[in-house]
Amino acid sequence: MAEAKTLLISMLLSLLLLLLLTISIEEVQCLQHKAVYSVKKLQWRKLSHTLKCHPQKSRRDKGSLTLEMKHCDYCSEKTQTWDKVIRNRLISDNSRVHYLQAKIKKQVPGKMVYSTKDEIPLYSGVKLLTLNYIITLQLGKRNMTVLVDTGSDLTWVQCDPCKLCYSQQDPILNPGLSRSYKSVACNSSSCQSLEGATGFAGVCGADQKNSCNYVVNYGDGSYTRGELGRERLYVGKTYVKDFVFGCGRNNKGLFGGASGILGLGRINLSLISQTYKKFDGVFSYCLPSTEVDSSGSLTFGRDASVYKNSTPISYTKMISNPEPSTFYFLNLTGFSIGGVAIQAPGFATGRTLIDSGTVISRLVPSVYNALKTEFLKQFSGYPTAPSYSILDTCFNLSAYENVNIPTLNMHFEDTVKVNVDVLGMFYFAKDDASQVCLALASLSSEDEVGIIGNFQQRNLRIVYDTKKSNVGFAEEACSYT
Ligand SMILES: *[C@@H]1O[C@H](CO)[C@@H](O)[C@H](O)[C@H]1NC(C)=O
Ligand SMILES: *[C@@H]1O[C@H](CO)[C@@H](O)[C@H](O)[C@H]1NC(C)=O
Ligand SMILES: *[C@@H]1O[C@H](CO)[C@@H](O)[C@H](O)[C@H]1NC(C)=O
Ligand SMILES: *[C@@H]1O[C@H](CO)[C@@H](O)[C@H](O)[C@H]1NC(C)=O
Ligand SMILES: *[C@@H]1O[C@H](CO)[C@@H](O)[C@H](O)[C@H]1NC(C)=O
Repeated sequence: MAEAKTLLISMLLSLLLLLLLTISIEEVQCLQHKAVYSVKKLQWRKLSHTLKCHPQKSRRDKGSLTLEMKHCDYCSEKTQTWDKVIRNRLISDNSRVHYLQAKIKKQVPGKMVYSTKDEIPLYSGVKLLTLNYIITLQLGKRNMTVLVDTGSDLTWVQCDPCKLCYSQQDPILNPGLSRSYKSVACNSSSCQSLEGATGFAGVCGADQKNSCNYVVNYGDGSYTRGELGRERLYVGKTYVKDFVFGCGRNNKGLFGGASGILGLGRINLSLISQTYKKFDGVFSYCLPSTEVDSSGSLTFGRDASVYKNSTPISYTKMISNPEPSTFYFLNLTGFSIGGVAIQAPGFATGRTLIDSGTVISRLVPSVYNALKTEFLKQFSGYPTAPSYSILDTCFNLSAYENVNIPTLNMHFEDTVKVNVDVLGMFYFAKDDASQVCLALASLSSEDEVGIIGNFQQRNLRIVYDTKKSNVGFAEEACSYT
């Protein structure tokens, strides 16, 4: 009897030992999925306003063309306080998300009904876009610094004579002084493509030239209106004859002091579709952080050997639902936090787009809530701070030099796993790190479209192949040189 008792006790003891062992192994595994986040080093440096926004450099190698790309803080003219810059950026970011959601409803008709209500300015008073990255193009004979936008197709710049122009750093383009400028006729196929590209059909002008008038409304009160024109475009040293673009005569918004927008969308009229023969429908970028001395690159062409990626590029397919639209939709199949896979019904719907112009990624509520819960579980013990604008998971890290944060991975169809750079995890709402927030936000409903924003795209080479209909990801420390 006593023997049986001893046996039982020893069995229980070994069971306990096994349990303890398993727990400690799990702990070790968790530690492996954390990254050091240097709070002190990553506090955003004060924005310097002595910098000029152009010209950005370019180079050609092995049939690909690479342009230097910078954060638009380089271009902004006004000196604003840090608090104001940071807050306005998030408010504008929300306007952009509302604009994208409205445009998607219009472009991709389905069970959702487009309502005009979505176009009413939602955040009056803040009329600037958050398209954060700029490059320099040459249109006619002028260098133009423009904002890069994967969420629109039509490229436009401000044109003289101007009815209403916001202030920009470059001189305004005057097509009247260019012999290579032609206006586009309103019975042309380019004019007919406008509706698909901008959501508004081209309108025949009242002049003898039978010109084609375009409108783009950005939903935050910003807009551009003018006529469609053709002009010589140089992207670096690559020449594009008769490039179709919007010559904006009536433009409202701040657009960060840039001359206009470069449309890198997926369909008709975008730079990619107009240069399909030259660049084979491929472009890629590496987005630098906002730190003032960093620069990234925008590359056109198929030759992947010009990239400086440190991991192999893995590709996931673009979703066309049912037809390709402006946007690059992907099939987001999951997230993992510190190596722990998140479960949520909002995955694998094919309704997530990747956008260069949205700052903070937006996730459907089921995905966001699951992710937040797991993050809080793993990032525990730090003092919390109040919510900030759209960000609801904030901490006071001012007492810390470094913190260990769980790593974030995005998973896409075709077993693509993307490591989000540690720089893309936190948004500093306060300069002194007393309010540092998880840089992800929830959408208001499960029906909205998820967006992978540029904060979570830093230090990645992201390749858009419109010919093969896929998007590739690899790690790369962004730098033009
Ligand atoms: C445009 O910028 C390039 C440098 O990127 C410079 O070499 C060129 O002279 C500029 N052209 C004009 C017309 O200013
Ligand atoms: C457009 O209209 C002009 C006359 O206004 C005509 O000469 C031209 O052939 C038309 N082009 C097309 C593509 O229909
Ligand atoms: C866009 O281009 C495709 C092929 O390039 C064409 O089939 C389609 O009709 C165009 N759409 C519009 C709205 O012009
Ligand atoms: C997304 O990927 C998952 C897993 O491969 C697949 O089951 C699902 O059908 C895909 N969804 C779409 C919309 O393609
Ligand atoms: C943040 O934490 C620091 C150090 O623990 C503390 O002194 C400070 O008052 C806190 N700030 C806020 C806004 O809570």
